[in-house]
Amino acid sequence: MDFDLTEEHLAVQQAAREFAQTELLPGVIERDNLQKFPTEQIKKMSEMGLMGMMVDPKYGGGGMDTISYVLAMEEISKIDASASVCMSVNNSLVCWGLEHYGSEELKTRYLIALASGNKLGAFLLSEPEAGSDATSQQTSAIDRGDHYVLNGTKNWITNGNSADYYIVIAQTDIEKKHKGINVFIVEKGWDGVTVGKKEDKLGIRGSDTHSIMFQDVQVPKTNRIGEDGFGFKFAMKVLSGGRIGIAAQALGIASGAYELSLKYSKERKTFGTEIMNHQAIAFKLADMATEIEAARLLCFKAAWMKDQGLDFDRASSMAKLFASEVAMKTTIEAVQIHGGYGYVKEYHVERMMRDAKITQIYEGTSEMQRIVISRDILK
Ligand code: CAA
Repeated sequence: MDFDLTEEHLAVQQAAREFAQTELLPGVIERDNLQKFPTEQIKKMSEMGLMGMMVDPKYGGGGMDTISYVLAMEEISKIDASASVCMSVNNSLVCWGLEHYGSEELKTRYLIALASGNKLGAFLLSEPEAGSDATSQQTSAIDRGDHYVLNGTKNWITNGNSADYYIVIAQTDIEKKHKGINVFIVEKGWDGVTVGKKEDKLGIRGSDTHSIMFQDVQVPKTNRIGEDGFGFKFAMKVLSGGRIGIAAQALGIASGAYELSLKYSKERKTFGTEIMNHQAIAFKLADMATEIEAARLLCFKAAWMKDQGLDFDRASSMAKLFASEVAMKTTIEAVQIHGGYGYVKEYHVERMMRDAKITQIYEGTSEMQRIVISRDILK
């Protein structure tokens, strides 16, 4: 077993770290306050190749492995989880699914633009009545020969307004239940597509979360991804990879909060000494460091399994479940270590605590991860 990162991995990690410090850190508090999407920053991330990291270079991607993706996600998420969810959705839920299951025509038409970052994608599965229970799709796509007619509403869509292309899951045959679900690529500019209200969120406030409505949208049959009835499996497979991204995001939020806490503990004095010299603080830091390391190893394991072509569903759920719980716990402790300063915006950790919460919810709640894991170990 080799725990060393390659030179290429270290270079990706270093580039993402420097970018986060120089380009994301300066405006991160303001973007959170104003719910401002990091448009310029995402553009620069595209130029760096961070929006389609794992896609084959022949489709405009970086051709990197999933370990590199985890490393970059951790560094970006240490500073700005709003930018990193945008990156994660585009890489995992949009590009990966299109590359693996899309036709050559769809790859040429959409993937090249998405992987190079010229266009942005979103993944539309959740609905007002279908969140965890993803098979209960109400959005319908009725077969009309050479096209489908799409109707329905999707909720809590990351990149909802900023995206150019949507990966849409819809029910084509209600009788067949989940086997009658399909997946399509839909352009935001098509007739009948409306971007609904922007959500006013607790955390990741710089990210752009909307409902999206479809009214009699004509979707060419060639825009269906995969065989008829493949939509639910597509969603599950793509989310399995997505969970590695969100696990890495949670890892980054946790390690960012830990690094700030470590620094603060060496500077802040109480009772005549730096607070790191109080065992109450030192033990918190020890727990944080240990749990973060365990989360990182779970992320690497899931990423490695994916890169080896192994079944990574259980590993990605374990990584997401554990890393998101660590993110929540670590950020709460980070606020505690910072005391009064931790409760105000300029010290960053209160934002990280708010951002951490969503990692226990999106791309499958912690409860759904426990379903995936328990079904796998009990089968
Ligand atoms: N790979 C391939 N196929 C899979 C699969 C996987 N990982 N998981 C399930 N399937 C298949 C099953 O084999 C089954 O197919 P067959 O009938 O042919 O055997 C079918 O899918 C149905 O599976 P289940 O019976 O297990 O389905 P379920 O209704 O019990 O649901 C679940 C399972 C794991 C709870 C699933 O519904 C789930 O993951 N829910 C959470 C959804 C989710 O993550 N939503 C996130 C929204 S997207 C988002 O957050 C993006 C964002 O913007 C950040």
